[in-house]
Amino acid sequence: MTVSETQSLRKTDFPADFAWGTATAAYQIEGAVAEDGRSPSIWDTFSHTPGKVKAGENGDVACDHYHRWEEDLGLMRALGLNAYRFSVAWPRVVPGGRGEVNARGLDFYDRLTDGLLARGVDPYVTLYHWDLPQVLQDAGGWANRNTAYAFAEYADAVAGRLGDRVRGWITHNEPWCAAFLGNVVGIHAPGGQDLATGLLASHHLLLSHGLAVERVRARVPDARVGITLILGPQQPATDRPEDVAAARRGDGFLNRWFLDPVYGRGYPADMLDLYRPHAPAFEEAIQPGDLETIAARTDFLGVNYYQRSVVEHAPGERGLMDTRQLRPEGEYTAFDWEVYPDGLREILVRVHQDYAPPVLYVTENGAAYDDRPTPDGQIHDEARRRYIERHLAACRDAIRAGVPLKGYFAWSLLDNFEWAEGYSKRFGLVRVDYGTGRRTVKASGEWYGRLARGEEG
Ligand code: IFM
Repeated sequence: MTVSETQSLRKTDFPADFAWGTATAAYQIEGAVAEDGRSPSIWDTFSHTPGKVKAGENGDVACDHYHRWEEDLGLMRALGLNAYRFSVAWPRVVPGGRGEVNARGLDFYDRLTDGLLARGVDPYVTLYHWDLPQVLQDAGGWANRNTAYAFAEYADAVAGRLGDRVRGWITHNEPWCAAFLGNVVGIHAPGGQDLATGLLASHHLLLSHGLAVERVRARVPDARVGITLILGPQQPATDRPEDVAAARRGDGFLNRWFLDPVYGRGYPADMLDLYRPHAPAFEEAIQPGDLETIAARTDFLGVNYYQRSVVEHAPGERGLMDTRQLRPEGEYTAFDWEVYPDGLREILVRVHQDYAPPVLYVTENGAAYDDRPTPDGQIHDEARRRYIERHLAACRDAIRAGVPLKGYFAWSLLDNFEWAEGYSKRFGLVRVDYGTGRRTVKASGEWYGRLARGEEG
């Protein structure tokens, strides 16, 4: 624990205009997968494929937020939060992937936006949180360049409808996961296991980001547009040169592969060299002008932080990465992710120094724990409360070090569908009883609300 973590947190440690928020994603909470014209997404297909998701679970009902959204907005208001990051489901808005826009799909987000504003909560819209229309996957998914153009059209439709009220726009959530977990590791939809496909997907995701930035700006002149990346320090296990090189590869894989092109540096040369023998056609897919499009000016960077990696050189492990991830002594969440708050300060400071985004937000940070309700149904989740407190202390330290951090969005408002883990991992500040849909604010949520309201202590 760092010295500053022991100092108590105050709202006044943060800028007056700080966004105190929570974050969610459409497929993880909405349910209502066949309502109002929504078409299937790759996550419907994947979760309904036996063996892909723990216990065969899926997002068919999830938190039923599509029907209970007013209650959920009421929770935010009661907690006194002033920001909310949600994602729009592409298959609701353009069920065919391209072409006709489904007004009924947009109506839902229209109501949600009005509802947030009426409760004093600032909406931050994420355009893509992994629910690609299945029909586009059938045509090659993100490995097909046309998907990037389809995304730009979809972004235009959403910005056209919500842009008179929404200023905060996030093109993509964690393209690293969409590209690599989905197409190389295979544990996320669509479940592919091919490096060349994953690399192509990453390029088209980034291209679509740049195209969407332009489309949103054209529709919403005062928009603040950015992208959310999952980032984390990659630390060598020792100072042996081969471990240092392994950490550098890890950094290239997770962090620089996305940061470098978004900030105008193109793809990192060391990673291109590493990938080239395994994906010789990748560089041919980069068309003239693509890198300029990807480097479109953004107003902020969203950082999702969960853990660091401590790695050592291990020939033949993790495919061409030749690395082994160690499990340092310490505290772990129910996901077996190390609790390492200092990594958040480190990554924020590093991104600020190396890439200088004008503004940063922590667009996700949180922890899964095996919550045990007391007989009266309350959840005294002290471990989660401490997790958030310590990570917010890291944010405070980053701000003191000069990082222009303007908000923190706890992951997540609600317990929800945690992808391949199904409902087994609970991240919410609010417990969801999946049998009844009943919501109960956990102690961590009450604490976070007190801090956001300036009633700390
Ligand atoms: O639940 C996910 C979210 O969808 C993306 N970021 C990480 C979270 C926890 O795994």
